[in-house]
Amino acid sequence: MSMKPIVAIDGPAAAGKGTLARRLAATLHLPYLDTGLLYRAVGRRVLETGGDPSDAVSAESAARALEPADLDRNDLRGPQADAAAASVASITGVRAALLDFQRDFAVRDGAVLDGRDIGTVIFPNAPAKLFVTASLAERARRRWLELRAKGMEADIATVEADMRQRDAKDAARAAAPLKAAADACLLDTSEMDAEAAFQAALAFIRTRIDLI
Ligand code: CDP
Repeated sequence: MSMKPIVAIDGPAAAGKGTLARRLAATLHLPYLDTGLLYRAVGRRVLETGGDPSDAVSAESAARALEPADLDRNDLRGPQADAAAASVASITGVRAALLDFQRDFAVRDGAVLDGRDIGTVIFPNAPAKLFVTASLAERARRRWLELRAKGMEADIATVEADMRQRDAKDAARAAAPLKAAADACLLDTSEMDAEAAFQAALAFIRTRIDLI
């Protein structure tokens, strides 16, 4: 696999991967892909045809039919989309159907990608891997604030319970479970603001990738 400047950012829900990855990509002049959107969009496609996101046949055919424009849908967030994404994501055939899209995305210029299995499965040879996490309570608080800012009604205890369940499902599944790659830098952002997380991540990446 190539030694292109690929930055793999994995971790559980609402750990701050997206904010961090987006800023790193802008700073490093690399394309950015939020791979969670792929699973969210597949989940949505299944739901809108009245299907069950945990049914392998429906989910795989939705994954094969996925188009880049699906990632721009405005219904990819919220509890229903979260649950549908986690269901389709546990299906091996769905993950296989989305593999080439993720690898092709980084083929020309490298990329910053965030998800659950970027450093373990999609780009096991990525030169820079980060595993970003935070306590469950802090992650639930961040997601709750995000939902409220979008005008979505949310109860913090429910957000935390849903998140605990989704993390457990992501970590326990047989297909590409959520786990840190052996060579990933662990970044616990429980006590860090976005700026501190960014500086720590950038300092690590500089040790792995030659940046101009
Ligand atoms: O934003 P949040 O961290 O809550 O979720 P996300 O990154 O958008 O991912 C949504 C769901 O998609 C996760 O709970 C996983 O089940 C799945 N996912 C995955 O399996 N592999 C990835 N590379 C990205 C997401």
